[in-house]
Amino acid sequence: MELNYDFFYDWTKKNLNINLNGYKEKQLQRRIASVMKNSGAATLEEYSRKIQKEPAVKQEFLDYITINVTDFFRNQDIFEEFEKQLVTYLSPQFSNLKIWSAACSTGAEAYSMAMILDKHAIRSAEKILATDIDETILKRAKVGKYKTHEMKNVTEIDRSRYFHEEDGVFCLTPAIKNRVQFKKHDLIADRFSSGFHAIVCRNVTIYFKNEVKEELYQKFSDSLMPGGLFFTGATEAIYNPEAYGFQKVAPFIYKKL
Ligand SMILES: C[S@@+](CC[C@H](N)C(=O)[O-])C[C@H]1O[C@@H](n2cnc3c(N)ncnc32)[C@H](O)[C@@H]1O
Repeated sequence: MELNYDFFYDWTKKNLNINLNGYKEKQLQRRIASVMKNSGAATLEEYSRKIQKEPAVKQEFLDYITINVTDFFRNQDIFEEFEKQLVTYLSPQFSNLKIWSAACSTGAEAYSMAMILDKHAIRSAEKILATDIDETILKRAKVGKYKTHEMKNVTEIDRSRYFHEEDGVFCLTPAIKNRVQFKKHDLIADRFSSGFHAIVCRNVTIYFKNEVKEELYQKFSDSLMPGGLFFTGATEAIYNPEAYGFQKVAPFIYKKL
């Protein structure tokens, strides 16, 4: 039976305040059909009623749609290049950095940035802004506790400097946690702030339709100060950076002109 996605997109927009129209259709519909089946619903109309009535079904849907996979220093070699750009280019130019980790998931990315700032004694004008559409993951991010398997890219030195271990769980020090401020933000629906010196937005635009992605690149560019850096995911190279006022400075790293 054909599933009524138009109905479901309208319903999620109205009832969950999520605009699914911006996401790549086939990929998204495969995921919706699969999570709907898990719940035992046969149609999207029935599934929407279940989401409304059963908090566990709602949570499973939100988790499935948002895809929270992340890591500290994800794609280490590229992150090292970003660290180098931050230390040798960005920080000497701007005395107080304003940084945004957009679609931050568990916070591993924002906290990686906080560790880099601490390591190089780089000052930030305000806390690193870390945003995501998913409120559940933001709650986890604020807690700042990670399991061993999430720590694979964190060196022994960083583990002992920035975490303490409690029964196999790695807890971030208050000094690093205090450098990050978490906030709910939908990249498709919400307004962007401005005046950033660096924006890190990785592994989320791959889920968006091309026209949405292009609009986002322009909005990120507008949100950056001239000379600021935009850092994308390892499968999210921008092929025409000039179109958004960017210049490529290293793979997946762009400077706002
Ligand atoms: C694969 S994770 C990427 C996490 C991190 N940036 C990284 O690269 O490791 C994708 C994140 O994007 C978030 N997300 C999905 N759609 C979003 C939207 N419209 N606005 C903001 N965040 C969104 C998800 O909740 C999820 O936490």
